[in-house]
Amino acid sequence: MRTCRIAPSILSADFARLGEEVRDVTEAGADWIHFDVMDNHYVPNLTVGPQVLKAIRPWTKAPIDVHLMVEPVDALIPAFIDAGADIITFHCEASKHIDRTLQLIRERGAKAGLVFNPATPLSYLDHVMDRLDLVLLMSVNPGFGGQSFIPSTLEKVRMVKERFDRYEAETGRRIMIEVDGGIKAGNIADVAAAGADTFVAGSAVFGAGSKEGYRDVINAMRAN
Ligand code: DX5
Ligand code: ZN
Repeated sequence: MRTCRIAPSILSADFARLGEEVRDVTEAGADWIHFDVMDNHYVPNLTVGPQVLKAIRPWTKAPIDVHLMVEPVDALIPAFIDAGADIITFHCEASKHIDRTLQLIRERGAKAGLVFNPATPLSYLDHVMDRLDLVLLMSVNPGFGGQSFIPSTLEKVRMVKERFDRYEAETGRRIMIEVDGGIKAGNIADVAAAGADTFVAGSAVFGAGSKEGYRDVINAMRAN
């Protein structure tokens, strides 16, 4: 059976009730909570920081997947880990020393991942495979929820999957493939067939409006 982790993005949740939203979406079946951090520098939008992560941490036992859309990255990592991040991903272009940033995350006990924008070349993978727990392939340009899925992502997912299969055969270690942006019940099957195992969904899940709605969407996504 294929792995299918659903990671709702809090970007589309009700920020006035963030703790309850995180609890509700966890009870509705979310595997991870995706926490989008934007700095109005690396991306043209501004969201939340470690204090908000700390505030929501008690509301779920699910792993919290912190997606850093910030530049520079390194100075913020300890604060996010102390606040309860289980997974931290950052963008290839946002760190001057990718290898160092990956080490920093893992040394402090979190899982580490590299994020690829739609136009970021996969050559960034060349020398860091051993340091990666996951990659996050963006299927929209980062900065906003509710955008449309960019179809060329599918080919990119297939290329990464092939590469990670070979790597697993050589090393016995599986690197996860997460996809983020414009994923909904209607297109998740294509993304899964291309080889992704973890699916971020913001507007599709939280747009459903209630815990029952979240459950329906998450179940529909899982049934792909
Ligand atoms: C975009 C964020 C995404 C976004 C996903 O920059 O990284 O996580 O919130 O939202 P949807 O699912 O609405 O595209
Ligand atoms: Zn994200």
